[in-house]
Amino acid sequence: MMLRLVLGITGASGGIYGIRLAQEVLRAGIHLSLLISRAGLLVLNEECGMDLDIDSSAGVRQRLYEYLDVDAERLVLYEESDLLAPIASGSSAPDAMVVCPASMGTVARIACGVSSNLLERCADVMLKERRPLVLVPRETPFSPIHLENLLRVARAGGIILPAMPAFYHHPATVDDITDFVVGKILDSLGIDHSLFRRWRGEDGD
Ligand SMILES: Cc1cc2nc3c(=O)[nH]c(=O)nc-3n(C[C@H](O)[C@H](O)[C@H](O)COP(=O)(O)O)c2cc1C
Repeated sequence: MMLRLVLGITGASGGIYGIRLAQEVLRAGIHLSLLISRAGLLVLNEECGMDLDIDSSAGVRQRLYEYLDVDAERLVLYEESDLLAPIASGSSAPDAMVVCPASMGTVARIACGVSSNLLERCADVMLKERRPLVLVPRETPFSPIHLENLLRVARAGGIILPAMPAFYHHPATVDDITDFVVGKILDSLGIDHSLFRRWRGEDGD
């Protein structure tokens, strides 16, 4: 059972996937560390109406604890600039990291090992320590630059799990579509869930 997970939410469209993933991981009793880029906060406000005060880290913190209905014991919130955090070091690397959604900018910086903030550094640590790193890119169409960067991360051991919902489970709501992608992320980490009906699974049609 995986114990310590880091989730990075960046400024690609689809912050809702990251928030839903955080809820499921917390529900599963897994210790979660959350990192949200400044662009990620902007997109969460824009798309999910989360009302995060991006100029107040204390305000963001309080709002997220309220929204996710947890306290600091269950959920550690890091700031992008906190390069002294334990997860910046291979000696205390987490068990797995997911970047969801992953912007093309963040993908590029991870692919090049830039490590200019805590999220990028933690991803770099995961690759060098050969631990699971799942990137959930969201962009369309992809340019050759995006594709080459994604391939570079995949070749370094990262899992590229694009936010590409399927429709064979007949989603009726935005939540159904979101849950499919989140379920696939949980599958990639070996975390049990019942977020979607599997194709011709026992309870499928
Ligand atoms: C509403 C909104 C939606 C965006 N959607 C995407 C997207 O789907 N994919 C992407 O790569 N960038 C997207 N961007 C642009 C990124 O937010 C921007 O490149 C930012 O610098 C990424 O920074 P980060 O990687 O530090 O989060 C979007 C920006 C906004 C404001």
